[in-house]
Amino acid sequence: MKFFVDTADVAAIAELNDLGMVDGVTTNPSLIKKSGRDILEVTKEICALVEGPVSAEVVATEAEQMIAEGRKLAEIADNIAVKVPLTWDGLKACKVLSDEGKMVNVTLCFSANQALLAAKAGATFISPFIGRLDDINLDGMQLIEDIRTVYDNYGFETEILAASIRTANHVAESARIGADVITAPPSVIKSLAMHPLTDKGLDAFLKDIADAGIKIL
Ligand code: G3P
Repeated sequence: MKFFVDTADVAAIAELNDLGMVDGVTTNPSLIKKSGRDILEVTKEICALVEGPVSAEVVATEAEQMIAEGRKLAEIADNIAVKVPLTWDGLKACKVLSDEGKMVNVTLCFSANQALLAAKAGATFISPFIGRLDDINLDGMQLIEDIRTVYDNYGFETEILAASIRTANHVAESARIGADVITAPPSVIKSLAMHPLTDKGLDAFLKDIADAGIKIL
């Protein structure tokens, strides 16, 4: 499973990238706002840092404008994936941009039917939002499972990019179901290393190291 980092914070991306944890990056208008940086400038910087796909989202809502913005974003670097919302206009833009050979990430997906449309429109990635479904007492993980089934039933090659991931359990469940990619904030990716028994075990080892005066160097 590929790990994308869901942030426009270049320092946070660089830290995880040095550990080999970054297969790509996703951004959205809220993350660009949070970074306080110009979208074109920060996206270019991220693309230079990371080898894999870097999603950059259009801001228009009408297909022709989305297509124009997508073409401009794609000029930033070869590893840009143009991100469009899952609206009818977004699907039109997805079809045109993917026919041009650009990677397209269709975002704000909340149903298997929407995912089906995105795959038929040639999306490289579909982004179902787990956390936001959980927020309204629906089952985000069930959506990942449904899309996996639908795509496998018909051999669609669109990659399932599990998004709006808030917890380590969301990552583990996405991996169990077979999502192709997860995108998560740096804090969630780091939290995957945590286990109380690891801490407890290490404390016991450290005590024995001190008691016995064990040295290697
Ligand atoms: O990848 C989409 C993600 O940024 C949305 O996450 O936590 O705002 O629902 P969240």
